[in-house]
Amino acid sequence: MTHIEQKQRHVLEQIAEAKRILCAIEFALHHQIPATLLITSAAPGEGKSVFASILATTAAKSGKYRVAALDLNWYRPALHRFFDLDHQHLSKTILDTDLDHLVCHCGQDSLDILTAPADYVEQAPSTDQIVPAIARLIKQANDSYDLVIIDSAAIFPTNRLMIDPVVLSGITAGVVMVVLSAATPKQQVRKAQKIMETAGANILGVVNNQWKITRKR
Ligand SMILES: Nc1ncnc2c1ncn2[C@@H]1O[C@H](COP(=O)(O)OP(=O)(O)O)[C@@H](O)[C@H]1O
Ligand SMILES: [Mg+2]
Repeated sequence: MTHIEQKQRHVLEQIAEAKRILCAIEFALHHQIPATLLITSAAPGEGKSVFASILATTAAKSGKYRVAALDLNWYRPALHRFFDLDHQHLSKTILDTDLDHLVCHCGQDSLDILTAPADYVEQAPSTDQIVPAIARLIKQANDSYDLVIIDSAAIFPTNRLMIDPVVLSGITAGVVMVVLSAATPKQQVRKAQKIMETAGANILGVVNNQWKITRKR
């Protein structure tokens, strides 16, 4: 099998898995849709943004849902890259504007994207400004879409600029945790899970990302 064929097979396998995971999420939510899903993980680089993009695309392609994917990892944004978009707005605009004027259509019907601001790291607004504005955007997303998929930061390490996924879990219907198999220490995953549970998050499930294992084969 050529390298390209292998890569294509890998992508097809991931799409098949995403369909299954979407189905599991629908059950875990008891089909209470519209719903907002927070995608997070214990550590950076575990595949949150890859998974959020594949899940959003799969849900939109199913033809059942209007989907919004929101990049709320403003410190290390990524969704714009996966959907081949530029950063669309500055932080202040995002904080002051209604969601329907902020999202962009990624070329796929039923899927809208909110990209992270371009100037966040240089000109970060305070948490007091960010949290209420984000709660408003999430509420607007819930009113306009069936599934809202939030790509967020990792739980560890914390830093003063990150939008805390633990805080976001309080304003979302369910949390999906991505774990990069064989990479993230189990204790760290358990610790992250515990923090989420203590905060009252509704953990719908864990996605086991076997990316590195697959590559080694
Ligand atoms: N299942 C996967 N298939 C292909 N590439 C992956 C997969 N999981 C992770 N990666 C790669 O690993 C890197 C980190 O993934 P990313 O989704 O950006 O992590 P996170 O958002 O958790 O920081 C990316 O460059 C991505 O291409
Ligand atoms: Mg990411």
